[in-house]
Amino acid sequence: MFSTCICASSLAPTTPTTTPAAMPGDDQAAKPVADPFLRFLLPAPKPRPAEPSPPARLVPPHGLVAPPLPLPHARPDERLFIVPPTRPSWLPPPPPPGTTVKPRPVAPPNEHRARNAGRFAGNGNGGRGRVPGAFLPPNRGRAGPERRKVATDHKSKEKKAWVAVEKKGEDAGDEDPAVGSEGYSGGDEGGNEVEEDQLELEGGEQETEQEGGDHRQRLDQQGELKNSLAVAPDGNGDVDRPIENLLMPQSNQAPRLRGRMRRRQVECRHDIDTFTPGFIELYESLKPSEEHKSKQQQLVDSLAKSVSKEWPNAQMHLYGSCANSFGTAHSDVDVCLEMEIGTGSAVEILLRLAEILRTEDKFESVEAITGARVPIVRMSDPGTGFSCDICINNLFAVANTKLLKDYAQIDQRLLQLAFLVKHWAKLRGVNETYRGTLSSYAYVIMCINFLQLREPNILPCLQAMEPTYALNVDGTECAYFDEVHQLHDFSAKNKESIAKLLWAFFHYWAFHHDYRNDVISVRLGKTISKQEKNWTTRVGNDRHLMCIEDPFETSHDLGRVVDKQTIRILREEFERAAAVLQYDEDPCATLFEPYIL
Ligand code: CTP
Ligand code: MG
Repeated sequence: MFSTCICASSLAPTTPTTTPAAMPGDDQAAKPVADPFLRFLLPAPKPRPAEPSPPARLVPPHGLVAPPLPLPHARPDERLFIVPPTRPSWLPPPPPPGTTVKPRPVAPPNEHRARNAGRFAGNGNGGRGRVPGAFLPPNRGRAGPERRKVATDHKSKEKKAWVAVEKKGEDAGDEDPAVGSEGYSGGDEGGNEVEEDQLELEGGEQETEQEGGDHRQRLDQQGELKNSLAVAPDGNGDVDRPIENLLMPQSNQAPRLRGRMRRRQVECRHDIDTFTPGFIELYESLKPSEEHKSKQQQLVDSLAKSVSKEWPNAQMHLYGSCANSFGTAHSDVDVCLEMEIGTGSAVEILLRLAEILRTEDKFESVEAITGARVPIVRMSDPGTGFSCDICINNLFAVANTKLLKDYAQIDQRLLQLAFLVKHWAKLRGVNETYRGTLSSYAYVIMCINFLQLREPNILPCLQAMEPTYALNVDGTECAYFDEVHQLHDFSAKNKESIAKLLWAFFHYWAFHHDYRNDVISVRLGKTISKQEKNWTTRVGNDRHLMCIEDPFETSHDLGRVVDKQTIRILREEFERAAAVLQYDEDPCATLFEPYIL
């Protein structure tokens, strides 16, 4: 038995390793040789040894081993915020239920939030993705359902484009208008001292330098400029291009620069004047009614009573749009109290005023905003619904209010233009200083300067004329020629319609203004250089990316709040407006389409 066993074992090769190599045509060679009868004598086969594990990876001595992939955890400073644009309270109600409007996230107290968050994600138009949607150049226009579809497609793209914004300390501002606004309703937007803002203009403005030089040459060589001008019956180089392409190809600098350069050459559409009646009608509808004015007066009278009890010698001035004639039916009431402060401070007086107004129970939501560049008390009047800002001894504002009012009397096109621009700015969400866009006052100054520069001039430069009015404010002489009744035919030679002027205004700010080098100055009736003003770099929170000189406080740049993100927003909006006025079938409506998510 024992020997059999040994014998059997030796006769039964069990692994292929001992199997003779198979030869072609020899099936037998592959079969086991053991007799099936003896198989039960064979020892049970050993379990197969486990597959040898692959050799351990050796870290090369040079240490160039890829680090493990990071887990997708955002660092706290990269957390993403989705913030919809603000919608002015007086706008028509938001879209009906079913259309999704993202709620504004509530930020923890004291947390800085990105200004204009949501309008763009720090890469040009990327996040904003604002496209005009509902309009195309005439020869590409579509009608009816097709056109609606284009608009819807754009809208859905727009929605997707509302992406998260990185929280960035350097541009973090406070969204609370009471704290973050420029000047009249707040102070500075918080921000670290990062002197890189000018880089935005370096990038954005290369075309300015290049326009007359290399860039144009290159375009000419490519025949692009020639061709694009040739296709347009009226010399309009963009007429054969989809409007989408004209507006926002900003992820790629080169097309953007080319686009701007070409659009700069565009001549105004020949039918522009047909839109004048529509714009005039809109302007008329924006003017405050007599009833509105008398309600404002009631509020002022009631406030005057409250103030005079405590400060009988105080003088009350109205300033801002309720007094400079640029007020619309939606404007607030701005009041300045002129008084001796003695040993106290303006802030103490404002705190006391807020206390008085609260106890009197005549006004609502009374709050003292003392951290602003110009501290104020803000309140609202439940009777009229008006909001009212009160400041102390801000006589610059009183002086510039009179200046604006006097300019408005010279040519009615100033009022028309400014009303339409203010209305556009409010609806398009670019009239929010606490978010880094421009104040209404700044827009009016832009309009005045624009009309001063029109050929033939529509407005004179009152500060360059023999002064007939002067007010000394803290040692600064606010002086100018105020006998404007003598100037009623100053602009007689210029016959441009309001539609044409509106087109030209947006065209100027979209394609002609030299953001890198120029400051607009109503005081001098022209543009001056940033160098002259020493506004070439950021100083503190004054970024000087878009420079608008205040007519009397000449060290004050009304565009100081504009930062590298909001300058893009503004320029995109100017470009959109210019394109709407150039191509849209119904610019009176499309221009003012509210900017919503
Ligand atoms: N003001 C100023 N300097 C600023 C901002 C404002 O002197 N940087 C003064 C101006 O006298 C301006 C007034 O504050 O007219 C009110 O400013 P603002 O609210 O921007 O303009 P309004 O003309 O009142 O516009 P709205 O109709 O939007 O209220
Ligand atoms: Mg106002």
